Amino acid sequence: MVRLCVNIDHVATVREARKGREPDPVFAAVLAELAGVDGIVCHLREDRRHIKDRDLRMLKEVVQTHLNMEMAATDEMVQIATDILPDMTTFVPEKRQELTTEGGLDVVSQMDRLIEVISELHAHNIVVSLFINPTIHQIKAASRTGADYVELHTGEYANASDIDKMAERLDEIASMAIAASKLGLGVSAGHGLDYQNVPAIARIERIEELNIGHSIISRAVLVGLDRAVREMKELTNQ
Ligand code: PXP
Repeated sequence: MVRLCVNIDHVATVREARKGREPDPVFAAVLAELAGVDGIVCHLREDRRHIKDRDLRMLKEVVQTHLNMEMAATDEMVQIATDILPDMTTFVPEKRQELTTEGGLDVVSQMDRLIEVISELHAHNIVVSLFINPTIHQIKAASRTGADYVELHTGEYANASDIDKMAERLDEIASMAIAASKLGLGVSAGHGLDYQNVPAIARIERIEELNIGHSIISRAVLVGLDRAVREMKELTNQ
């Protein structure tokens, strides 16, 4: 059964619209756990545009399932991770102007840096994942860094303009999940997954974990977080 992890950044985004105290992403994490999620994901961005250091500290205290911190491979973020000790960190590329993480990490061009930071995180018993595009090139490179997991970027699948292109992207993700798993990497997937496109991804056997944010939090605004999580859980466990 695939694990469902919820990214709660968007709750913090709504809070930051007024720079106030609510809605609190920490409360959202607790409610999501009560509704049955397997993990909580948050992205501490360099510009702190949504999740703040305080949120991460409190999430570490309250999350009882699994806390995955997404971050850029900067000295500052590695320092924070080794201080807070989330269960997992996921390295993502980060650009100031982007609305959300746009593409996967180019592992090949940052190999030495990633090897260095991954060994530092491992020394603190933190599991490390790399968010990459589903290509064999990146998977092979990821396996050479010592990372434990790859998170396959599902954005191109989710945004495919027609059903044939979507099927092609789906095949690609399925075969890259097998390739990564054969190299000894754990496999997760995420980005752009919603209530319509998730079942096909959830059925890919080698994918162990799904990280979903926007669609769940959007539905939660209308029907409540408990129902939004339970409905997604049903679709990912068929
Ligand atoms: N995985 C990673 C690495 C991400 O950066 C994001 C976006 O924050 C997600 C998953 C979730 O994407 P979405 O919000 O589109 O579900």
